[in-house]
Amino acid sequence: MILFNNQFTERDKVNIDMEDRGYQFGDGVYEVVRVYNGVCFRMESHMARLKRSAAEIGMTLPYSLENIEQLLLKLVEKNAIHTGNVYIQISRGVAPRDHQIPANITPILLANTKEVERPIYKIKEGISCILTEDVRWLRCDIKSLNLLGSVMATQKANQLGYGEAILHRRNMVTEASSKNVFMIKDGTIKTHPANHLILDGITRVEVLDIAKEKNLPVVEEAFSTDELLQADEVFVTSTTAEITPVTKIDETIINKGQSGPITQMLQQAFEQRIPKHGDGSSVSLFFSIGQK
Ligand code: PDD
Repeated sequence: MILFNNQFTERDKVNIDMEDRGYQFGDGVYEVVRVYNGVCFRMESHMARLKRSAAEIGMTLPYSLENIEQLLLKLVEKNAIHTGNVYIQISRGVAPRDHQIPANITPILLANTKEVERPIYKIKEGISCILTEDVRWLRCDIKSLNLLGSVMATQKANQLGYGEAILHRRNMVTEASSKNVFMIKDGTIKTHPANHLILDGITRVEVLDIAKEKNLPVVEEAFSTDELLQADEVFVTSTTAEITPVTKIDETIINKGQSGPITQMLQQAFEQRIPKHGDGSSVSLFFSIGQK
């Protein structure tokens, strides 16, 4: 079952118009939310970012944020998702193809869910990354449907037998193709500041919060590719990857090819924040159904 605007329906019942601006211009925004034990993790943060992304491209959401949240929770329930992802996208809507945005266009919402296991092996053993130039636009803070720069970087990494691509602008590391990047040197955690050059990841914010709680020194400052290659530990974060160690970058082995002690400390703290069924630590699906 998928969500089409505010209707629950089957995927093959939905007609996507050829002139949907999401399709023709990548004109729209999206979110990916993690479900743990039937509970949507950090739903409020994802909803807030969705609202912000839409506002930044001058798009009014078709329903209130509370409404959208309730629809997504219902979708998770209808599909009986235990551990998985919710994908939601809102495109500008349908109109004759023209670069100019027509007045009174109605946005189109689509959402689906997937049962996806936590990537336990990668979280434990780490992944390899290539370094490649960040060729994306200058509004990476918007979670826009335009992902060609990311897709091309991921494809390059995969073709070379690597798991991810770490992006840099003139040798200053920004983020990975679909993840934020952190490095640790002499006990200090470094990550790119949340500006127009990166997406301010929900998992990134979680890591910064854990670091603060544990009194670990953090610097939100851009660092060079040379610094990255000399780091004691490197990891990437995202809703689906959680905190994944990076053990190899191009030909350089990081921390003897293993996950490092600070990375592991952060992972353990993150693990403790993962909602257990109905513990009330996030928006509980079952709780919200009971409220109706
Ligand atoms: N990607 N940076 C980029 C460019 C991303 O696409 C993502 C997420 C992140 C991490 O953000 P968060 O922690 O909120 O997931 C950083 C999602 C998962 C995706 O496109 O599938």
